[in-house]
Amino acid sequence: MTTRVPVGIVLNGVTGRMGYRQHLVRSLLAIREAGGVPLRDGTLLWPELLLVGRSEAKLRDIATRHGLTDWTTDLGAALARPDMAVYFDAQVTSEREKAIGLAIAAGKHIYTEKPTATTLHGAIELARAADAAGLRHGVVQDKLFLPGLRKLQRLVDAGFFGKILSVRGEFGYWVFEGDWQQAQRPSWNYRSADGGGIVVDMFPHWHYVLEQIFAPVRAVTAHVTTHIPRRWDERGEAYEATADDAAYAIFELEGGVVAQINSSWAVRVNRDELVEFQVDGTEGSAVAGLRNCRIQHRATTPKPVWNPDLPVGHSFRDQWQEVPDNEDFDNGFKAQWEMFLRHIAQDAPYTWDLWAGARGVQLAELGLQSAREGRRIELPELER
Ligand SMILES: NC(=O)c1ccc[n+]([C@@H]2O[C@H](COP(=O)([O-])OP(=O)(O)OC[C@H]3O[C@@H](n4cnc5c(N)ncnc54)[C@H](O)[C@@H]3O)[C@@H](O)[C@H]2O)c1
Repeated sequence: MTTRVPVGIVLNGVTGRMGYRQHLVRSLLAIREAGGVPLRDGTLLWPELLLVGRSEAKLRDIATRHGLTDWTTDLGAALARPDMAVYFDAQVTSEREKAIGLAIAAGKHIYTEKPTATTLHGAIELARAADAAGLRHGVVQDKLFLPGLRKLQRLVDAGFFGKILSVRGEFGYWVFEGDWQQAQRPSWNYRSADGGGIVVDMFPHWHYVLEQIFAPVRAVTAHVTTHIPRRWDERGEAYEATADDAAYAIFELEGGVVAQINSSWAVRVNRDELVEFQVDGTEGSAVAGLRNCRIQHRATTPKPVWNPDLPVGHSFRDQWQEVPDNEDFDNGFKAQWEMFLRHIAQDAPYTWDLWAGARGVQLAELGLQSAREGRRIELPELER
């Protein structure tokens, strides 16, 4: 019979959108349904889950719905339990740093949503403290596991692009203000005091996507704004949107690649997917989204000629070719949980740690500074 090795995980923030859907249901419960995470020696790591949150009723409801028995509103008591090896955080961003600090002090390995803190100073302090305590740490970098970006990575690895010249990213959709139709994102996202803002939310993602697939980010120039200044919250009450809801940024990468990414909650989608990256290289180009990726090779590139007097007689989009899946793509959050749990149990490599998280926070912080001061800012290496 296969041996099952339990690993206790304190899950904080499971009543939220990400905590519940992606981390609890699609990752940890899915891992349990599959029997656990298989290790090299044939044993199975079995996540034992302790749900933590502010509302006893909500926690009981989630636990009952999924056949779980362990929950508490007392984070301190959860962290004091010796059978819990890992602390996971998917709370609102503003609550994260404090809670992770407590978990590190309690000797728990750390796995967390991004951004790891609201300031670079805070993010670095967490990384240093976790290292000093000899703990394992990981940060969610889910976009790398999206099928579209996996295919893009495959193209880069194959040398498809030749010399990569530029990356243009378009991310965004209309987030309803909340008066006439309910907003589809939580209201704290639009209040800076609560850790909101599109820069703090999205630049950490752009950081690891660029660093991992192309090259490290060396400089940022950003224009940041709040297009919609007044919104309505979950209770239908009007509030002032103090956080940025759009950012227009240029990221300069090591080696000279220029990446321009627009991020906005105030645009309407006229794209195939909610995020798309166009990569242009000397030998070929690609457009990658969440799931799909299309390419055009140098040898099949048409020769457009500028002539406004003539209508366009063909569809430019039809001149691209779809990159095939060639593999089954598992849920990215689940794949990353499995990697992190193997990292704790058998020292398997895991590169996306609190330092990677801090570099993402650094890009957000310097992006906001660039916008405030109206200038280009270089990113210094972080001092460990
Ligand atoms: N990886 C990704 O793609 C991704 C996507 C969205 C959000 N996130 C991150 O996940 C985290 C949670 O985002 P979400 O969209 O699930 O938010 P959410 O508002 O749906 O959930 C927030 C959670 O934090 C808890 N919480 C604790 N203290 C709180 C407080 N003082 N005020 C309000 N809620 C409090 C809530 O009870 C809830 O469980 C954020 O840090 C966000 O940056 C990551």
